[in-house]
Amino acid sequence: MTFRSVVIGVGSHLPEAVVTNDDLAQRVDTSDEWIVARTGIHERHVAAVGEKTSDLAIAAARRALTHAGRTAADVDLIVLATATPDLTFPATSARVQAALGVTKGAAFDLHAVCSGFIFALTTADNFLARGQAKTALVIGAETFSRILDWEDRSTCVLFGDGAGAVVLEAHEDGAASGRGIISTFLRTDGRGHDLLYVDGGPSQTGTVGKLRMQGNAVFRQAVEHISEAIVETCARAGVALAEIDWFVPHQANQRILDGVARRLNLDKDRIVSTVALHGNTSAASVPLALDTAVRDGRIKPGDLVLIEALGGGLTWGAALIRM
Ligand code: UT7
Repeated sequence: MTFRSVVIGVGSHLPEAVVTNDDLAQRVDTSDEWIVARTGIHERHVAAVGEKTSDLAIAAARRALTHAGRTAADVDLIVLATATPDLTFPATSARVQAALGVTKGAAFDLHAVCSGFIFALTTADNFLARGQAKTALVIGAETFSRILDWEDRSTCVLFGDGAGAVVLEAHEDGAASGRGIISTFLRTDGRGHDLLYVDGGPSQTGTVGKLRMQGNAVFRQAVEHISEAIVETCARAGVALAEIDWFVPHQANQRILDGVARRLNLDKDRIVSTVALHGNTSAASVPLALDTAVRDGRIKPGDLVLIEALGGGLTWGAALIRM
């Protein structure tokens, strides 16, 4: 028997505190004008003191479960994408699992930085397709504010905190009515390791470290590789770009979204952009944007949605989903 992984619920959560560009201009030599012109970001949410990645993940997961009409008792797999875990170990997903009251199946963290949600969704899809789980929570959750160098204006203005989640359910292929994950594409090229990294870690330094990025080089790679991921994912599914109802990209920079749109001749009205209000929330950005567009009624059941991302590693990927 073959199974389709159907998205039956979405949810997200943002920390309460909002930091505007003007707030940042009080801390580093920057301006609202520069940040908006170069990134499209106006504000971002930042976790409160003591608010952990798991807290954001739990809130997003609860909303996704409610939206799906399922409970913790149904869940038999949790894949949590994060580059900012609560602790070095155990996995943040273990804490999320316990807090939700999930008592069966596996829960694990997956680390592909900003591409994390695409990697996590693809991993969960493979579990469901093989009949190894029935109902999966796929979560992207981050507190990048903890690993920013708040004196480095070239990075601290870009990122925000948040979480998003989807509930995937295995439906027999014939019964899925075309809904579900249709194709996925993942890539890693470790030669890009030093373009975007954190200069600390348990094994190398024994510290947590701060985010470092060669922004210009990452920008160029992002436009090229995201375009490649979109084209390849559609080719694997035999779907033309024009058939896609909504593009839900990783929200790193409005200029990257525009660059990919120009390169592939995409209709800008079909691209969901939340970068202005969320900034770059790494693994949380795609499910946050997806939830935003589902809740405001843009994305409807039956729509063909393409999600994509590029992040540290370098990693990149895309997935095509019939909602
Ligand atoms: O999610 C994972 C992937 N991450 C990304 O996709 C991020 C990719 N990169 C980017 O989004 C862009 O490269 C940035 C937004 C990070 C930078 O934009 P840019 O157009 O590539 O600017 P730049 O790095 O070439 O910097 C231009 C100038 C520099 O000054 P000089 O050397 O020309 O005098 C920077 O020092 O802008 C300066 N600058 C700033 N000025 C005001 C850099 N950051 C700031 C700032 N405020 N916050």
